[in-house]
Order: sequence, then structure tokens, then C-alpha cells
Amino acid sequence: MRCHRCHAPANVEIRRSRIAFCARCYPDWFRAQVQERIDHDRMFRRDQRVLVAVSGGKDSLALWHTLMRLGYRADGLYVRLGIGEYSRRSQAKAEGFANRHGLLLHQVDLEADHGFVVPDLVEARSGKPCAACGTVKRYHFNKVAAELGYDVVATGHNLDDEAATLFGNLVHWNGEYLARQLPVLESTHPGFVRKVKPLYRLSERETAAYALVERIDYILEECPMAKGAKSLAYKDMLNCLEEQQPGAKYRFLVGFLKQGRSVLPAAAPEAADVRRCSRCGQPTTAELCAYCRMADRGRRKHETKDRKYGRTPVGP
Ligand code: AMP
Ligand code: FES
Ligand code: ZN
Repeated sequence: MRCHRCHAPANVEIRRSRIAFCARCYPDWFRAQVQERIDHDRMFRRDQRVLVAVSGGKDSLALWHTLMRLGYRADGLYVRLGIGEYSRRSQAKAEGFANRHGLLLHQVDLEADHGFVVPDLVEARSGKPCAACGTVKRYHFNKVAAELGYDVVATGHNLDDEAATLFGNLVHWNGEYLARQLPVLESTHPGFVRKVKPLYRLSERETAAYALVERIDYILEECPMAKGAKSLAYKDMLNCLEEQQPGAKYRFLVGFLKQGRSVLPAAAPEAADVRRCSRCGQPTTAELCAYCRMADRGRRKHETKDRKYGRTPVGP
């Protein structure tokens, strides 16, 4: 195949569109796709400050790189989740990227600042901490953005992530989650910062190719706690389908956003009685927010481990 733009021999094929690009033209195509989504979905403007949640993986670093190259004011946020060597290596990738490009990276350290780590949050039913970890991450993305005055939080969720989430929500008929599955989540309350996913129409393969061509140094391994997670099974299934029907993943997600959402019952309106958590001040509908309740459980578990292994307890 030849490059769609310059007709040189192609290196990256976009199967769903039946086009391909050489390594020189591909990054421009990728950035143009992201720019088009930011503008079309009104994610943010050039005069706004963006906080990019970076995990050290290819998607979030490719997103940060893209926003930098497109001229946006984008700083990073890395949350130290305390998942052993995996967290240390991903932190090093996030820091390395920020240093190399002279970008500002904020960090939250769960163990040092909050007295627990994600492995303390393993749930009895699933045997995994992934759902709780999602709550922890979203809490800190919002808190840091609100406290430091960012207009928007951007995450690196790609087409594969979003299609797998959609598939899972359909398998389990999670109507409430389906109604909220959007590439832009508006701020519904002064304490909630809007959330956007600028890569939601680009596949994992396409972001990996961007990271490779732009020589972004990212962590290759997946989170060890996610092994056997349902989301990975959904991704595998969708990849099998994609193999036989190029573009199926894209049509599944984009079709849902364009048409499927309209047949859903309207999302339940945000509860009107949003107030401040009595401990941390973040918006919540309860006296104590879900994060603070979870953190209490995590700290208790952490302290038990400390006693068992003779470590000094940490925490606020
Ligand atoms: P995941 O939930 O691991 O699939 O990650 C989805 C998105 O959340 C990533 O693309 C990042 O934008 C963000 N993210 C994941 N882990 C972290 C972390 N430790 N610190 C900051 N952002 C993260
Ligand atoms: Fe949260 Fe793996 S990154 S459990
Ligand atoms: Zn709280």
C-alpha cells in the first residue's frame, strides 16, 4: 500500500477507512483526528487549561504529546497507586516524558498522603481492586483539577476501551452507566470539572503506532491487578470481530453515541442536594463522600498489614 498523502510506501494501515500512511505523514493524520474531535465535540478551547491524567502508558502519553504539539496548555497528573514495581515503572515513564518535554507533572501519592494503596482495596466479590481503583483515580483527577483551577480533565481512553466498556454495560444491561457513557461529561456542579476523552475514536493500534513513530517511551506491561478482568475479555472478543469485520468496533461505539443513546431512557438527573464532604470538601450527596469511606477501609487494611510486617503506618 501507498501513503494516502505522499504516495511513499506506507507503514501504518487504517483498515476501517481502507487508507494507509507512511511514518512521516502518520503523526499529522493522528493529530488532525484528535483536533477534529476536540473541535467537533467542543471539548475545550485554546485559552483553557487542560489537566491530562497520565498513567505512563501509550494512550495518555500519546494524548499529552498530541496536545503539546497542537499548542494546547496541558499539564499532567500522575496518581501513585502503590501497585508495587508496576507503579514505580509507570511513574518513571510519566516523569521521564514530562522532563524530556519540559512539561509540568503534578502527582498524588496514595500511600504517603492518604495512608493506603490500591492493593488494599481488593473487593471480596470480584477479588480485584479495579472498580475501587477507578473511583480513586476519578476522585483525584477531579480534586486536583478543581483545586488548581483547570477547566477540563482529559484522559487517554481510546476506541478499544470505550467499545469494551459499552459492550460490558450492554451485557449487564447497566442502564445508568449506558446513559453516562459519553466522550464529554459536562460539569453539573461547581465542584465537578468537565471530563473529556479526545482519543475515543482512535484505536489502541493507532495510538500505539503514534507512540512508536513519535518515539514515546511508555510502559508496555498492563496493570498486574487487572489480570482476568472482564474488560480484557470484552476487548479480546471485539478484536476477534474486528479481524473479520474491519471497522466493527468503530461502528459499534459511534453508532451507539449517534443513535443508540437516543432510545435510552434519559439519565437520572444529578441529585439536587449536592453538598461538600464533611472531611475532604469534595462534592457529594452523602455526609462523607464515597472516596473518604473507601479510604477509611483502605487505611484499616493497610495498618493491619503494617502490624503484620512490622512497618511504620503512614497516613494523614
Ligand atoms: P485505565 O483506567 O487504566 O484504563 O486508564 C484510563 C485512563 O485513566 C488513562 O488513559 C489515563 O488517562 C488515566 N490514568 C490511568 N491510570 C492513571 C494514573 N495512575 N495516574 C493518572 N492517570 C491515570
Ligand atoms: Fe487500577 Fe490496575 S490500574 S487496579
Ligand atoms: Zn470526602
